Amino acid sequence: EVPSLAERYKKSFDIGAAVEPSMLEGTNGAMLNRHYNSIVAENVMKPISIQPEEGKFNFEEADKIVKFAKENDMELRFHTLIWHSQVPDWFFMDKEGNPMVDETDPKQREKNKKLLLKRLETHVKTIVKRYKNDVSSWDVVNEVVDDSGELRNSPWYQITGTDYIKVAFETADRFAAKDAKLFINDYNTEVEPKRSTLYNLVKEMVEAGVPIDGVGHQAHIQIGWPSLQEIEDSINMFAALGLDNQITELDVSLYGWPPENAFPTYDKIPASEFERQAVRYDALFNLYERLGDKISSVTFWGIADNHTWLNDRAEQYSGVGVDAPFVFDVNYNTKPAYWAIIDEE
Ligand code: XIL
Repeated sequence: EVPSLAERYKKSFDIGAAVEPSMLEGTNGAMLNRHYNSIVAENVMKPISIQPEEGKFNFEEADKIVKFAKENDMELRFHTLIWHSQVPDWFFMDKEGNPMVDETDPKQREKNKKLLLKRLETHVKTIVKRYKNDVSSWDVVNEVVDDSGELRNSPWYQITGTDYIKVAFETADRFAAKDAKLFINDYNTEVEPKRSTLYNLVKEMVEAGVPIDGVGHQAHIQIGWPSLQEIEDSINMFAALGLDNQITELDVSLYGWPPENAFPTYDKIPASEFERQAVRYDALFNLYERLGDKISSVTFWGIADNHTWLNDRAEQYSGVGVDAPFVFDVNYNTKPAYWAIIDEE
C-alpha cells in the first residue's frame, strides 16, 4: 500500500474528498479511509436536496455521509447552507405564488424580504441544529460574488441585498457548535476583480461583527492558471483579516477555459499531460505546506479520476471528452501528481 496523503499532511492541514452517498463503499471507501481524514457531500447537502419543498426536509442521503464520517472518525465539512444554484424555486415565491423578484410595490417588497429571511433562518436553523455535533466546518454561503467583481445578482441579493449573508452567518452561529467554523466559500478567489470584491465584503462584514471564521477557496484550477503568486496573495490577504483559509473543492483541470479539444477517452491522454500536471501539483502543495498555519484543510472535489464533475464540462464544450484532475487515476492507481505531493518535506 502507498503512503497516506492525510498522514503526509497531518502536521499542516486535513485532506478531504467530496463524495456522493454511493461513494462510501468498496474501493472508494477504502481510499477514503487510507488517504483522507475529512469529507464533504458533493451534492446531497445542498438546499434542493435537503428542503425540496417548504417544510419537507429530506435528510436521508445527507445522513449517510454524516454516519460515515462519524464511524470513521473523519472531519465533516457541510456544503452548503445557502447558494443561488441547486436551490428550489419555492424559496423565492411570495404567498400568492408569484416570483418575489418581480414585485415592484415597496411595501410588498419589504414583506417579501421578511418572508425570505424567515425561510432562510428556518432552513439554516433546522440543519445546523441537526448536525451541530457532527460538522466542524460549515459553508454558510456559496458564490455570493460574480466573475465581474459584482455582488452576485441572485434572487437572494435582489430580494434582501446583503442581509441574507448576514442573517445566514448569524443564524448558523447561534446554533453551531462553539468550535465549529463558519465559511464564506467561492471560486476564483485568487483573481481580480473578484478577489478584491470578496475581500472588501468580508472585511466589512467582519468589522460589523458578522461571525465569519474563514474563507473557502474552491480552487477549481488549471495546470497553468491562476499563478502561484495569486494563490499565495489571496490566502495571505484573508489571513491578515484574522481568518482561517480552507481549500474546499480542489481539482486541477488539464484544460483551459472553456475546455475545448478535450481528450476523447482516458486512455488517449498522453503521459506528458500527467507529468505537466504533477509539476503543478508539486508547486501547489509546496505552497500550501509553506502557508500551512493559514490553511486548515485541503479538500479535493472527488477521490479519483473516474468521478469528476469536470467530465460533464469537457463533454459539453468538446462534444466528447474527459478530464483527469486528481492524483489518483480512473483505476485508483497513483498518478505522477500523487508522487509529487507525497514526497515533499
Ligand atoms: C457540482 C457537483 O460536482 C455536480 O455534481 C453538480 O451537478 C453541480 O455542482 N462549485 C460548488 C459545487 O460549490 O457545489 C459544485 O458542485 C461545483 C462548483
